[in-house]
Amino acid sequence: MIVDRQGRRFRNLRISLTAACNYACTYCVPDGKRLVAAQDELSAEAMGRAVAYLIEAAGIERLRITGGEPLVSPRLEPFLRVIAGLGLQDVSLTSNGQLLARKLPVLLDAGIRRINVSLDTLDANAFGRIARGGDLASVLEGLEQASAAGMRIKLNMVPLRDANLDQVLPLLEYCLERGFELRFIELMRMGHLARDGAGFQRQFVGLAELLELIGERHPFIQAESALDATAMRYEIPGQGFFGVIANESVPFCRTCSRLRLSSTGWLHGCLSSGSRHYIGDLLDKPRHLALPAMQRLLVKALADKQELIFSGGATVMKIIGG
Ligand code: 5AD
Repeated sequence: MIVDRQGRRFRNLRISLTAACNYACTYCVPDGKRLVAAQDELSAEAMGRAVAYLIEAAGIERLRITGGEPLVSPRLEPFLRVIAGLGLQDVSLTSNGQLLARKLPVLLDAGIRRINVSLDTLDANAFGRIARGGDLASVLEGLEQASAAGMRIKLNMVPLRDANLDQVLPLLEYCLERGFELRFIELMRMGHLARDGAGFQRQFVGLAELLELIGERHPFIQAESALDATAMRYEIPGQGFFGVIANESVPFCRTCSRLRLSSTGWLHGCLSSGSRHYIGDLLDKPRHLALPAMQRLLVKALADKQELIFSGGATVMKIIGG
């Protein structure tokens, strides 16, 4: 096990299955270009071997599949098959929900019972302006079907001052009515937003303002959350829960247990760090060579974690999946 001075270790692995995405959200890609798969993405089998090695070398317990948009990747099904036998405590998925209705049987077959869906607005026009791809109706249909099939659903919303601040309450009420947990994600200084401080400040909406907006309509109390959780959780008594991932207002670096693997084989120990560590070339090596090499890289990746403050980074979110 690899542990740092603050007692942090890698517990949660997030794998970006592909960098491709069928959206081009304004806060993720600056120029509205549709994202395509990277040329040199790992095969499903290689990714599966990476997960097995990381379980052994780092003590990974939980896996989240991200992207890009994981449901656009033809490697989704083979990857789910490969990891089925690895003994992970939990496998979940973050998706934009556009293809959720179509892929639901595959997810259910693989035993996935929890899904996070990114949805920034319930207004079809605003949806078009933010996501710049896909359509709202397909997402809502996917959510209804997933819910009916018994999936536990969290919705992710990034509040943006000019684009969807009027949607905070509608989205919250939509979620409360359905038993979904809404999580507000404070805008992060990633990709082009790391360079565009003014643009970031203009759009950023923080925890205090959000809570005030919600509290006027729905009185809430603070709720429990796991020690290494990224979200502050709140309960609206009798109605349900919501969360806020407050990267800026209440940084959670001190308890961060995340490790990220890009679709092209790079390990990232911290979103906020420019360093990354290539493991793609280790995955064809025999275990007795691969494992020690991977352990050396994991020590470096853990050292990349920030002491306390999340400062953002040039890594574009699509590559590394939030
Ligand atoms: N700031 C905050 N959240 C972001 N996401 C993508 N880019 C950013 C950003 N710059 C979110 C997506 C998705 C989650 C995985 O990350 O909306 O819900």
